[in-house]
Amino acid sequence: MEKMKVLVAEDVAEAGIRVLQQELDVDVKMGLPREELLKIIDQYDALVVRSVVKVNEELLSKATRLKVVGRAGNGIDNIDIAAATRHGVIVANTPDSNTISACEHTIGLLISSCRNIPLANNTLKSGVFQRSRFNGTELYGKTIGIVGLGRIGSMVAVRMRAFGMKVIAYDPYISDERFKRFGAEKMETLNDLVARADVITVHTPKTEETFGMIGEEQFKIAKKGVRVVNCARGGIINEAALEKALAEGIVASAAIDVFTKEPLHEHPLFAFDNVVVTPHLGASTVEAQNRVGINIAEQVINALKGEVVPNAVNLPTLIDDELVILKPYIHLAEKLGKLYFQLEKAPVEQVEMTYSGELADKEVRMLTLAFLKGLLEPVLQERVNYVNAHLVAENRGIKVFEDTEERMAKGYANVVMAKIKTAKGNLIIAGTVSPNGEPRLIELYGYETDVCLTEYMLIVENIDRPGVIGSFATILGEENVNIAAMQVGRRAKGQTALMTLSVDNEVSEKALSKLRTVTGILSAKFVRL
Ligand code: NAD
Ligand code: MLT
Repeated sequence: MEKMKVLVAEDVAEAGIRVLQQELDVDVKMGLPREELLKIIDQYDALVVRSVVKVNEELLSKATRLKVVGRAGNGIDNIDIAAATRHGVIVANTPDSNTISACEHTIGLLISSCRNIPLANNTLKSGVFQRSRFNGTELYGKTIGIVGLGRIGSMVAVRMRAFGMKVIAYDPYISDERFKRFGAEKMETLNDLVARADVITVHTPKTEETFGMIGEEQFKIAKKGVRVVNCARGGIINEAALEKALAEGIVASAAIDVFTKEPLHEHPLFAFDNVVVTPHLGASTVEAQNRVGINIAEQVINALKGEVVPNAVNLPTLIDDELVILKPYIHLAEKLGKLYFQLEKAPVEQVEMTYSGELADKEVRMLTLAFLKGLLEPVLQERVNYVNAHLVAENRGIKVFEDTEERMAKGYANVVMAKIKTAKGNLIIAGTVSPNGEPRLIELYGYETDVCLTEYMLIVENIDRPGVIGSFATILGEENVNIAAMQVGRRAKGQTALMTLSVDNEVSEKALSKLRTVTGILSAKFVRL
């Protein structure tokens, strides 16, 4: 079988490329002009990028085969997640793989700017041995203000305390306990932090709220001689405001790893001796790049195989143990979803999912996505997958509700139940997973049953009286359809019953018409799951 194709469009460690090559056809094309990339992107099932390639609507609309974008790194501001979700493209990143490197680079930048290391290095290498010009400042006893006490910010806090710095931090989205854990004094406002800090370092994502958050207003209230570091995302410290504050002597030094526009070859900040710059090197260590490369390669492969992608940013996050438990239920939910439009034609207005028993405290959103995928994929032209199933349902006006209940339902340890509402009435479809991992149908059309959901199934309603099943089975035999398993559920003796049959092969329309002529057969439908 032809291998799926992945385009690696930015620098990814050899270790990662090797993992990709074990399963995929890999093209490494770094630094492609945008036009070229847009021309070839429709050939690929997966795309791996870092922070430069913009994965936006323009690219995604041309990427007709694309199933996954692997962001080899942390920040996802170069990827339009909403657009990727609309196109059913999984986006995965490696949020933890380069944290230490980014933290160490932040500290490296800070120290080199406080001690003029890059400039002194250049001066000495040019043959000038000067000392007085490069008098620096100590960090010991100073106050560092950390904006964003997440993964990297908190590591910076711990390390700078070891330097004897007082740590203050501003992060409105974390608990007080986190400030305590990292020995940081909580600042209620950004400006409180700015007014007290000798060093300001930013570690937030780039969002509408954070872009330019350290700007003119902040430099007005900052201590004269403040030092700033940006190893997060370009523009969180407004570049023009920084330039002005440097010129006015408010900022004693700046250390910048990231820029609003990258890549870049010139910038007004380059003119300042007291500005240390690096070309987005925060994650550029052997260790981080190996971790990032291998991690993203594994996730891309998982995504293409339809397996769970641990750091997918547009899917519910599943922890490893949960994944093992939920996997057979994901499979079950998708099969239950697939049943509906093969049995009924009435448009769906609402889907109410209920998860009972041991499933109640699990990440059941994934099961709802699987049900919706199963429901909609067979009837829609557009791509429907776990990523966009909810959005596609919403766009079609289907309301989706989810509920959990800890008590066992129908005597089963776990039950997935879907109540489908249509203008014609409601239909309940319920299933469970047997101890040996089989997906089983346990309720349909108000009848109780217990049959394994296999690829080919017959769903038959009949009058509950002797001879009906026999005549039905005879015709199946004549039509060469072998019954693998069968269950009959009835409401009450002599009324109607539901036969659910697992068969070994497809049942033709001709055979179905013949089956429907049997006296006592009310309906006979073939479904493929
Ligand atoms: P994280 O998500 O773990 O932490 C970000 C923190 O910022 C969170 O605690 C969040 O609550 C906080 N935050 C969000 N909005 C805020 C606001 N308005 N004010 C204050 N705090 C706010 O992220 P992380 O892994 O620590 O990464 C931090 C930054 O570093 C990101 O921008 C990431 O892209 C960047 N990064 C850069 C490099 C590099 O090469 N330079 C490498 C890795 C990560
Ligand atoms: C990241 O967000 O991980 C960094 O910017 C590093 C990178 O892209 O290489």
